[in-house]
Amino acid sequence: MKTYNIGVIPGDGIGPEVMHEALKVLKAVSARDGFAAELVEYPYSGEYYLKTKELVPERVIDEWRSLDAVLLGAIGHPEVEPGLVERSVILGLRFGLDLYVNLRPIKLYAERLCPLKDKGPQDIDFAVVRENTEGLYSQIGGHLRKGTPEEVATVTGVYTWKGCTRAIRYAFELALRRAEARGKGGRRPRVTLVDKANAIRPQEIWTRAFAAVAAEFPQVETDHAYVDAACMWMIKNPEWFDVIVTANLFGDILTDLGAMLQGGMGIAASGNLHPGRTSMFEPIHGSAPKHAGKGVACPLGAILAVSMMLDYLGEASAARQIETATAELLAAGDIPSVDTRSGLSTSLVGNMLVSRLSQAG
Ligand code: IPM
Ligand code: MG
Repeated sequence: MKTYNIGVIPGDGIGPEVMHEALKVLKAVSARDGFAAELVEYPYSGEYYLKTKELVPERVIDEWRSLDAVLLGAIGHPEVEPGLVERSVILGLRFGLDLYVNLRPIKLYAERLCPLKDKGPQDIDFAVVRENTEGLYSQIGGHLRKGTPEEVATVTGVYTWKGCTRAIRYAFELALRRAEARGKGGRRPRVTLVDKANAIRPQEIWTRAFAAVAAEFPQVETDHAYVDAACMWMIKNPEWFDVIVTANLFGDILTDLGAMLQGGMGIAASGNLHPGRTSMFEPIHGSAPKHAGKGVACPLGAILAVSMMLDYLGEASAARQIETATAELLAAGDIPSVDTRSGLSTSLVGNMLVSRLSQAG
């Protein structure tokens, strides 16, 4: 039997709760589809750091490289210095495994989930390709005269030709795959570059990298928006977008906005990818400490992260079954919302998915 070695980092807050449901779903589909997932659990989290003072050691990053994939719940603890454990675990994975694409699908499964007036599933179905290893996340910078009135803080935005072109190329390839999935008669593939190259002039490297890669894909329409305008278009005409490609921080910001178009943070999933290598999959919602321990978190983001992982691993049918089951439960109203007010417990939503998957053909 095909067996995948999966690293599992449940993390903090609602992370372990949603991970538990995601793993139930993974188990259910693997049993049906005849593959196995061998899970290796890792304790790294804010909670673990408070107990042990341990962050992710280099040898563990090496170990992760030898797995087939990593699943992450959420990292972030209110009693730990902001960002310390997030940088160690999340950026440790993204930078350590060179996961240069953060793929964030923005898809609405039921009209009532969307806060926009008169927009339905036919209008909101695009993907953000967020460059994931450079930009303002470079960690190059620091403080001078810290804590004094003369303090200086700097950070360097890093945009390399290699970093831009590989993310952009992924976006064009994705646009072609999405168009193929839509089939004949579907809209043409389109990639929109989002940047701020007017005010931040060195971002003009993105403009040239985009033009260079676009020339390899004459079948794909190209488009451009400054990031402020992109926020406006995402609300006004979300149907315009097919694939967006953008720098790290802009992608971070746009995808929280995108999550709301889908109905809430509870359903947004992502894949941190280096095609051909070990990649990492996570819901984008974070640890949400105020909801932790109550069993009210929506596990659909984590469950759809499992779907993205299976698709990446080549288990396309299992991936599709999870997405279809999720879409059906949402469309029918069995899962009324993707926030903490659905009236359904975290584990009940997981169980509904498992039972729907056991009924599906
Ligand atoms: C995300 C998160 C992270 C990011 C944080 C937790 C470092 O917001 O995955 O979107 O900024 O990338
Ligand atoms: Mg974010």
